[in-house]
Amino acid sequence: HFALIPLQLVAGFIKSPLSQKRLTQDSVELYCEAIGNPIPEIQWWFEGNEPNETYAQLWDGARQDRVKINATYNLHSTSTIYIANLTGDDSGTYECRASNDPDRNHLSKSPKVKWIRSQANVFVIERPDIQTQFTSTHGKLVLSCNLTEPHSAIDGHEWKYGDKILQTDTESSSVTTYEIEGKKEEHSGIYQCIFKTSPEIKGEINISVVPQVVAYKKSEHGNEGDTGVLTCKNPSFPPVSSWTWSRNGEQSIINGSGRYIIKSSGNKTELRILKLNIEEDTGDYQCIAINVFGTGEATVNLRVRSRLAALWPFLGIVAEVLVLVTIIFIYEKRRKPDEVLDGKAMPQTTRTRMSAREMLTKQGPGECCSQGQSCSC
Ligand SMILES: *[C@@H]1O[C@H](CO)[C@@H](O)[C@H](O)[C@H]1NC(C)=O
Ligand SMILES: *[C@@H]1O[C@H](CO)[C@@H](O)[C@H](O)[C@H]1NC(C)=O
Ligand SMILES: *[C@@H]1O[C@H](CO)[C@@H](O)[C@H](O)[C@H]1NC(C)=O
Ligand SMILES: *[C@@H]1O[C@H](CO)[C@@H](O)[C@H](O)[C@H]1NC(C)=O
Ligand SMILES: *[C@@H]1O[C@H](CO)[C@@H](O)[C@H](O)[C@H]1NC(C)=O
Ligand SMILES: *[C@@H]1O[C@H](CO)[C@@H](O)[C@H](O)[C@H]1NC(C)=O
Ligand SMILES: *[C@@H]1O[C@H](CO)[C@@H](O)[C@H](O)[C@H]1NC(C)=O
Repeated sequence: HFALIPLQLVAGFIKSPLSQKRLTQDSVELYCEAIGNPIPEIQWWFEGNEPNETYAQLWDGARQDRVKINATYNLHSTSTIYIANLTGDDSGTYECRASNDPDRNHLSKSPKVKWIRSQANVFVIERPDIQTQFTSTHGKLVLSCNLTEPHSAIDGHEWKYGDKILQTDTESSSVTTYEIEGKKEEHSGIYQCIFKTSPEIKGEINISVVPQVVAYKKSEHGNEGDTGVLTCKNPSFPPVSSWTWSRNGEQSIINGSGRYIIKSSGNKTELRILKLNIEEDTGDYQCIAINVFGTGEATVNLRVRSRLAALWPFLGIVAEVLVLVTIIFIYEKRRKPDEVLDGKAMPQTTRTRMSAREMLTKQGPGECCSQGQSCSC
């Protein structure tokens, strides 16, 4: 009498793509989410701004692989279209289409239910030019950015170093400067000037120096037979392209030769010397860093102590303990006759202990054993 009809739900959007302004070479991401039963399919279509252009479907890998589409069909359908390295030709209308009609992709049959559509505009604006300048005079560093032909009003500026905001203002000038007290060797790195326009425009100034190598410890100590570890790092910009080690300023140490192992990673290097030897290994070691701008180095002094030397503090403690034990022993021996003479002391302690045990047996077993704990009452 009742036919079980599967619940058929027409596709509907729960999230639609949003219009965006971008600069050339930037990237853009549009997101679309739809529900329905069965789960709807999502497609992306594009229409350029030229009057003769019509909608064309976009696929993953389109436009010389600058277009990426990532879709998930799980409970409901989601799709993200991502376009990298934008050009003016990417400006236009992007349409998210969804349908769960079984005939939706049929070539001859027209679907009963039309594809539903949701649109967003992407405006790609020619990236304006930023002229950057860096000067270093009288212990002062001056960084400046000059934005020629801004595409929209400037609402302020910001200077950043990594994620750290160094300076911010709300002026509308097309030139912004940032000053640092000190030498460039101490302030190397990538600085960013940001013009608060819509969208934001960023300029970059690199303060580049030769490697400012520092040793973790200027002098290291190792015990004979142990492994010695010497470490250097380079906190400056640009990063080190290669590290080398040498001993007493002589030719460089080859990794894996003799008892040497070199481990270098980015701005850090480590020289390990296996089975330290007093005569052969004591001395000065240089860690040398090379980057595009030149060479920097630091020296680590290694001192190797004999095994016995390492034992001295321990032997000292042992000797101290021995002396103490001897003194106590002698002292006790001298006192013993007195204690034996004092006859009351021993029985009294025995009595106290006995009564304590009596008390335990009186209330002990019932309580602790009834709680299921293992006990020896
Ligand atoms: C549209 O017209 C322009 C010239 O106005 C032409 O270069 C372009 O190829 C045309 N595009 C299409 C899809 O016909
Ligand atoms: C695709 O989307 C899923 C879920 O949102 C995410 O986990 C995955 O990393 C994305 N893949 C790519 C290549 O973006
Ligand atoms: C971005 O596109 C321009 C030309 O439109 C090209 O010269 C450049 O190499 C591209 N950059 C990347 C990172 O693909
Ligand atoms: C900024 O750049 C423009 C165009 O190159 C130039 O005329 C102007 O003098 C520059 N301003 C500063 C402060 O350097
Ligand atoms: C600054 O350095 C980074 C990292 O080495 C590099 O990608 C970038 O092109 C440099 N910028 C300038 C303006 O030289
Ligand atoms: C040195 O050799 C070891 C092992 O032979 C290797 O793990 C390490 O990466 C090498 N270091 C360099 C700087 O090549
Ligand atoms: C360089 O050193 C800094 C800390 O001094 C560290 O945060 C950074 O990750 C290092 N970079 C590389 C590439 O090892």
